[in-house]
Amino acid sequence: MRYFVMNYENFKPQVMRHSLLPFLLIISLISISCTQKQTSVESPGGVNTIEFLLQDGTPYYTVHHSNTPVVSASRLGFELQEMPGLTNQFEIESTEVSSFDETWTQVWGEKAEVRNHYNELAINLREIEEPNRILTIRFRAFDDGIGFRYEFPEQPNLQEFNIMDELTEFNMIGDHESWWIAAYQWNRYEYLVKNTALAEVDTVVTPFTMKTDNGLHLALHEAALVDYSTMNIEHTGNNQLKANLIPWHDDVLVRASTPFNTPWRTLQIGEKAGDLVESYLVLNLNEPNKIEDTSWIEPAKYVGIWWEMHLDKSTWGPGPTHGATTENAKRYIDFAAEHGFDHVLVEGWNPGWDGDWFADGVVFDFTEPLDDFDLEGVAQYALDNGVRLMGHHETSASVEHYEGQMEQAFQLYEDLGVRAVKTGYVGHGQEIFWTDELGNKNYEWHHGQHMVRHHQEVVELAADHKISLNVHEGVKDTGLRRTWPNLMTREVARGQEYNAWGGGDDVWDGPGNPPNHVTILPYQRSLSGPFDYTPGIVDLFFDEYRPDNRVNHTLAKELALYVTIYSPLHMAADLPENYEERPDALQFIKDVPVDWYDTKVLNGEIGKYITTIRKDRNSEDWYLGSITDEEPREFTFTLDFLNEGESYTAQIYRDSDDADWETNPYGFVVEEMEVTSETEFTVSLAPGGGQAVRFMHVSE
Ligand code: NOJ
Repeated sequence: MRYFVMNYENFKPQVMRHSLLPFLLIISLISISCTQKQTSVESPGGVNTIEFLLQDGTPYYTVHHSNTPVVSASRLGFELQEMPGLTNQFEIESTEVSSFDETWTQVWGEKAEVRNHYNELAINLREIEEPNRILTIRFRAFDDGIGFRYEFPEQPNLQEFNIMDELTEFNMIGDHESWWIAAYQWNRYEYLVKNTALAEVDTVVTPFTMKTDNGLHLALHEAALVDYSTMNIEHTGNNQLKANLIPWHDDVLVRASTPFNTPWRTLQIGEKAGDLVESYLVLNLNEPNKIEDTSWIEPAKYVGIWWEMHLDKSTWGPGPTHGATTENAKRYIDFAAEHGFDHVLVEGWNPGWDGDWFADGVVFDFTEPLDDFDLEGVAQYALDNGVRLMGHHETSASVEHYEGQMEQAFQLYEDLGVRAVKTGYVGHGQEIFWTDELGNKNYEWHHGQHMVRHHQEVVELAADHKISLNVHEGVKDTGLRRTWPNLMTREVARGQEYNAWGGGDDVWDGPGNPPNHVTILPYQRSLSGPFDYTPGIVDLFFDEYRPDNRVNHTLAKELALYVTIYSPLHMAADLPENYEERPDALQFIKDVPVDWYDTKVLNGEIGKYITTIRKDRNSEDWYLGSITDEEPREFTFTLDFLNEGESYTAQIYRDSDDADWETNPYGFVVEEMEVTSETEFTVSLAPGGGQAVRFMHVSE
């Protein structure tokens, strides 16, 4: 049996793969007949197959896409603290196979109706010898990938336990092209994405995206991370990948007690890059919505006292240029009311924002406003004008301090009619502490089990107060928005703010984000869920405040981001005075919806370009966003997604013929044309450019 495993693991290069395939299939069959203990499950369309193997008591699995091996024999199991590991003592007690097919409705989302269709295989394992513990591994095969999780049933010989290692492997077949962000960095997920061969990958965060030589697109991630440590992916050599869980301060990876389920380990598999974006596998592996009355959960667009601090025009803390004054907030509210924005975010409204606020979050007060900000008056002024405040809790990673005030803080916002709160956890990767009974401060990582538990507590508390969340510097999304639809969006990536003050790194030496950053994100960061990138900067140079920085896009591309990046809370991030200067661009930002009936990717290549179309959930209108890296591009396609025989006006916001992100980023044209589902439509993108289109339904 070892022979079988070794062959699979060594089975790498593309050419060899095809020539060895019949040989491997034969080995695989032999292996089945030898043990009589293996079993496999195929996805409903026969596209993906998972095979379970037990080799000398050790569990393994493989994944095939059609006949192409995707994951070679990969180990499963756990090392535990002060007790034998759940590793190599197993026999299969029983297996269960079932099918599931349901279409469920998202409260909000990129698609209203989501089909959850899979075949399932549950392997119930029992240790041959004492302590005879039991463990179930549940596999689900979907046509867009696979998922599996471990389940520890309630049992006398396994109650409280600590996981010291999760042995799960994802052994890849080939040195795939990879897009990744290294794990365990001080700035959490806020880095540019690297693009290298798998050989150069060490330990990375998920989603971790790969492309095989034969064109398969793969993304490793996890679903339903509720009470566990975040999973990173570690490259152990020879294209073999392994789960790497973020430890607690004492090196325990996960504290658990039975009955207990791990999150799902997921592998999305697509033949095109866009297939990954159109996959709902991660959401499907989460539990259904737990919030009965969701009428208060509203997709929304917002403006706010935010960009001006990032530009250094005003300050978070009190002083002569304090941003969050009553007067300034009312100015933003007036702008929001005039242009139909739903929320006004106000940052820097409370005490604690001294000059070095990220160093010491214990001074934050979440219930008292600063003297020059009339919180109640401003909240009421907003309501009187048909707008709501968006609350802000910057914790500066002083989580224990925040937890002491959370209940009153959410109550206060609820009383003021606030429906959405942006939270923030700025702080180095491993500086979150909790104080134990002995008064010791135990320092934890931002993404370990301690913080996963904290975020879960916040989302449930927020739901009690009818408040939706926009989480910055939190844990990556794993589809929990299906269960808790008030967990609306997150940043947890390098967003727009880096264009205001960010420098380059070893990926890019210019200021801010390079033009191709947003052409990678849909296939990497955004596979995890909605992203509060804060698009819509229309004043692309900041000479007055930050002359060395700029937005490295054309104006049309900033508009296209509202479609290519999905978020049910999207910001119009620029200053009101800048929008007043660009009513042409503002019009698209006002029109574009944030809740969709359907989403499709017309074309795309990771890190190069993407064209996304989305249908409004509340009308017959379609929207298109197309963006490119530094290469100019032209695409022509038929508008066959529009209703047949009906007419539409295409309102086009495009790069001018001489636009260029570097030399002429304001080269911008707004024009209209009448179209139908038979129109051949051409999208032309300037270097670093983009195009946004509203296909406005005119008549049946
Ligand atoms: C970092 C967040 O990403 C940003 O949006 C916010 O303005 C600052 N923290 C202050 O909370």
